[in-house]
Amino acid sequence: MALIEQIEKENLPKHIAITMDGNGRWAEGKGKFRVFGHQHGVKSVREAVETAAEIGIKYLTLYAFSTENWNRSEREVNALMTLLISTISKETKTLMKNDICLNAIGKLSQLPKKCKQELEQAVEKTKNNKRMTLILALSYSGRWEIVNAVNKIIHDSKNNLAKEITEDTFQQYLNTKGVPDPELLIRTSGEHRISNFLLWQIAYSELYFTDTLWPDFRKEDLIKAIIDYQKRERRFGKTKAQIK
Ligand code: IPE
Ligand code: IPE
Ligand code: MG
Repeated sequence: MALIEQIEKENLPKHIAITMDGNGRWAEGKGKFRVFGHQHGVKSVREAVETAAEIGIKYLTLYAFSTENWNRSEREVNALMTLLISTISKETKTLMKNDICLNAIGKLSQLPKKCKQELEQAVEKTKNNKRMTLILALSYSGRWEIVNAVNKIIHDSKNNLAKEITEDTFQQYLNTKGVPDPELLIRTSGEHRISNFLLWQIAYSELYFTDTLWPDFRKEDLIKAIIDYQKRERRFGKTKAQIK
């Protein structure tokens, strides 16, 4: 039986988040500059997006650049921004063809002007697409997102718009407003950490770590992660007997 057929259609995660890590090590292992790894990572992005849509995943969030990543060399940051601009502009057609809506979360105001423009255009163009929502986390930080939400609440409470805060109303102030929490978070490259990604939203996510470096991450790797997720028992604090 083909790997993809082993996926139980009735037990799909609605939302998968991926920390795409290991581009630099992939390149360095081949005696190349780190940027070479980022360039090859684009193919993995395309494959993950197409596979997720094919399987019937509704939301896919990709961690592409953290606020901490601004601390890398100017050369690497510039190369990443240039790659981002060209990828968004090249891939919009494929997103349209596959009926995928593009969105972005993070401190987007920090991005270079050209990058923001490309992003805004692609978001606008794809906004009515229905099959899947692709969310790019760009200049993203989970702590920033939470603090930003608190500041918006303070502002609204001054204007009498926000009163008692519940978990549900708090979520409305996050960048991911309206998006269900990811059931599955995947991180490549063998690192076992969160690195400031979706801190609020992953409260009950299943974590999946693989040693595969992002540029080597193929369709089968995503399918394997989903199959692994489907074997887990999600108890949400209850006992095994209560779940049955
Ligand atoms: C992930 O790969 C891409 C970004 C963080 C932008 P890295 O660039 O972190 O690659 P490693 O972890 O150094 O190998
Ligand atoms: C996390 O990877 C951010 C992205 C993949 C975009 P990093 O490589 O920046 O994380 P650390 O430094 O290993 O925690
Ligand atoms: Mg890394």
